Amino acid sequence: MPWVAVLFLVGCDYKSRQSTFDPKGPIAQEQLDLFMVTVWVVCFLFVAVGSVLLYAVIRFREKKTDSPNFKPKQSHGNPVVEMGLIVVSILMLVIIAIPTLQAIWFTHDLPEDESNHLGQWYDGEISEESEEEVLTVYVYGWQWWWSFEYPQLGITTANEFAMPVGKVVNFELRSRDVIHSFWLPKLAGKVDTIPGRINSMWMQGDEVGHYYGQCAEFCGESHAYMLFRADVLSEEDFEAWVVEQKAGAASPDGGEDWSGFKESLASYRKDPAIAEEWDDVFEGAALFYSKGKCNTCHAVGGSGLAMGVLAPDLTHVADRVSLGAGWLDHRAEDEGEIDPELQLENFYRWVRESEKIKPGNLMYEGTGGMTGLKDIELTDDEVRKIAIYLQSLK
Ligand code: CUA
Repeated sequence: MPWVAVLFLVGCDYKSRQSTFDPKGPIAQEQLDLFMVTVWVVCFLFVAVGSVLLYAVIRFREKKTDSPNFKPKQSHGNPVVEMGLIVVSILMLVIIAIPTLQAIWFTHDLPEDESNHLGQWYDGEISEESEEEVLTVYVYGWQWWWSFEYPQLGITTANEFAMPVGKVVNFELRSRDVIHSFWLPKLAGKVDTIPGRINSMWMQGDEVGHYYGQCAEFCGESHAYMLFRADVLSEEDFEAWVVEQKAGAASPDGGEDWSGFKESLASYRKDPAIAEEWDDVFEGAALFYSKGKCNTCHAVGGSGLAMGVLAPDLTHVADRVSLGAGWLDHRAEDEGEIDPELQLENFYRWVRESEKIKPGNLMYEGTGGMTGLKDIELTDDEVRKIAIYLQSLK
């Protein structure tokens, strides 16, 4: 029933947030153009072959007047037709091959012209060497999330990253476990992250906005929940974002100095009852850095207490619009603002029942010899307080 196939097309929206038909950068545009050349060549072949077939079926069909023993004129070989078909086939292949090769070179060669050099547009502090380089982002695929490192700028984030509008960004792709595939459909086609190997690609976002990406290679149980987001920002906004990312998290008492909290934490470890006097953020933090063992895998910049590298950096986790690698969205509607109530609920659910939200996730199971949440008995009230602390990490 071919009409059923047509029904599936009803679900297609070429402007949806992961549509390859709505390119917003030169790489995606180049790839779409190449796709369209192929589509037109194939359409031509379909029509040409289909018409000849249709002509033959009609012209040479059995006629009522034909005698039962009628045999059409038999022939063998036709040099003109055969040579013609060979020439046309070669022509079609050449028509596809030329733009294919052009696209391969275009997407492969990092445009290193001066206007893209960091020194030309970036006002923050960078090394002299970096001034002559294009902005580089190291992407790491993990089961089942992404980390993004900016070696020239000295920042690290997870699952949501930023890039400046209209500037070439060089990506180096690595995997920390199995093969993943980094795919940001509106900006570029997919490139795999492979253990033990560095793949690279470049991208440029031509329009300020939010772009949604996805792991595109089956990588285990929660492969489908391995999303990410790229924010293409104006130069000023990008620089402000870098400054924000560089800053450490505030201490749970609201100040910059963590020493008071560290003293309290030491006392709390001896006698948790002292937390009765504390507010929820402070107690949540104490749980985060002690019983919850969150700091063994996660990092919270500036704290000196959490420097884990096995899980997403949480220094500014509450500034991100989603949790669990894009899966739990903190916004009530697609392009809206973070809804604090929803965000708190998401943090709570994520710590309480991440195994239901993302089966097999290593925060629950434990990884690299670290205890997973399934072996730590947190009460609902403790989880609630940890969630409140997480929401304070801005
Ligand atoms: Cu990572 Cu699929």
